[in-house]
Amino acid sequence: MNIRDLLPSFGSTVDNIDMRTLSVSERAELKKALNERGVLVIREQSLSAAELLEVGRKFGLVEYTVRGDFQHPDVPDVYVISNIVEDGKPLGNPNDGFAWHTDLSFLENPTAFTFLYAIETPPVGANTEFASTQVAYDRLPPAQQDEFDHIRVRHSYEMLHATRRNAAPLSAEELQRMPDVIHPLVRTHPDTARKALYLGLNTSLPVGMDPEEGQKLIEDLMARTTINGPVYSHEWQPGDLVIWDNRLMLHRATDYDKKAYRRLMYRVTVKGERPF
Ligand code: OGA
Ligand code: MN
Repeated sequence: MNIRDLLPSFGSTVDNIDMRTLSVSERAELKKALNERGVLVIREQSLSAAELLEVGRKFGLVEYTVRGDFQHPDVPDVYVISNIVEDGKPLGNPNDGFAWHTDLSFLENPTAFTFLYAIETPPVGANTEFASTQVAYDRLPPAQQDEFDHIRVRHSYEMLHATRRNAAPLSAEELQRMPDVIHPLVRTHPDTARKALYLGLNTSLPVGMDPEEGQKLIEDLMARTTINGPVYSHEWQPGDLVIWDNRLMLHRATDYDKKAYRRLMYRVTVKGERPF
């Protein structure tokens, strides 16, 4: 196994590894790299849905997919992202993730690690982009770091759902299953003790602040992370596995020609601690 830096400030590329036969020491090395670098790019893998799930399980407790409609038919803990429709049935979710976000932040114990694996990828477009809220936090003036340390943010699945065009309204059962949660704006990584901003566009608003002002603050912090800060844009090839730590990274999907090209991705998410 060979680990090199992707960008100077975050990310690693891992070569010469087969994720199906990960040894205990390799796993420890990968976990360390993930803690410190936030995102790992691992190319040339060959994984079935069940094997991807096994990889996820080596990193923690795999959580149930939130949306039952896009589960893998044989391996329900694997979530499918795709624009492919077979016999009138979409194979996966074609629409989510195009705004900068961190996965399932609207849960009390949001996702720590996401494993995204490419089966079919368009020749152009459909990159996934990454930016580090840890780098953004480190760059803030100390007075602002102190100020933000005390702000709490409401994360809302209902708010996210409201941005989904043509979607049926959430059922009472879904609303009850996914109530809003409050997390600190600045969270501490449990393994490295480093601090990072924790926010998502369209899903989060500061508590006790005028909503317009709060929205502005979220957008401003987002811009500092994703415009003023470095961004890694991953160009997918079939067989790529990308793993990221949602506690210090933001990510987003980018567009592609959905009429011309097919995209098929499998995803597994591993539960994290309650943010602190
Ligand atoms: C995700 C996600 C982006 C993409 O799987 O959580 O945001 O490019 N995916 O599919
Ligand atoms: Mn996502």
